[in-house]
Amino acid sequence: MEIQKYNSTAIIIHWLMAIMIIAMIVLGLYMTGLEKGSDERTWFFTLHKSIGLTLALLAITRLIWKLCSTSPALPEYVAPRQRKMATATHHLLYLMMFIQPVSGYISSSFSGYKTKFWGIPLPHWGSKQPELNELFTEIHEISAFCLIALLVLHIAGVIYHLRKKESELFKRMWFS
Ligand code: HEM
Ligand code: HEM
Repeated sequence: MEIQKYNSTAIIIHWLMAIMIIAMIVLGLYMTGLEKGSDERTWFFTLHKSIGLTLALLAITRLIWKLCSTSPALPEYVAPRQRKMATATHHLLYLMMFIQPVSGYISSSFSGYKTKFWGIPLPHWGSKQPELNELFTEIHEISAFCLIALLVLHIAGVIYHLRKKESELFKRMWFS
């Protein structure tokens, strides 16, 4: 059967972002457990912010690419309900790719610390405002758990099709 694949730019960005986002979830959960005020905590927070802001730039690139190219049509045997589920999950994943770094950046801006992007200090527009810092930290935390739930759903969908021997669906988003 002829497989309609995503183009190579979409595939590269998908897997690069998938690895980075999964690493960021692990990193975020790990670093928040470190001792407050320790050098280790500061180092990991700084790294988390730089990778997170890089992900925001990748998400913008990805969205522009997505809007400028046509996604391959799904094979006909995919049931309408599954199509709707996959589309809804993909749209929500796109939304999370933005909510996650933006909420992190805004919460950091109200923390009283300067946010650096790979060592470059960004304009410090937000003063230390504990209430706003707490609000956006909470949004960041809730959206992280929504992102994890969506990811579980997304991967469960992939496994479901692989188990039904419909591996061409996975190959649409794979190299070669
Ligand atoms: C944080 C990690 C991930 C995010 C944010 C993500 C997001 C997305 C999005 C938005 C799409 C739709 C592509 C588009 O139309 O632009 C997609 C497709 C796809 N993803 Fe992921 N993904 C992630 C991880 C994974 C993982 C770990 C797997 C493999 C187990 C995977 C397998 C696939 C496959 C096979 C498709 C193509 C589905 C199709 O045939 O239409 N993704 N992903
Ligand atoms: C896609 C990108 C990102 C992902 C997946 C991610 C994920 C996470 C996770 C899972 C946590 C731990 C749960 C929590 O306490 O919220 C966390 C914490 C945190 N993230 Fe992110 N993050 C991202 C981007 C960013 C960005 C861009 C910044 C700032 C510039 C940032 C700043 C923070 C801070 C300051 C915390 C600690 C919050 C606290 O004190 O509890 N994150 N992140």
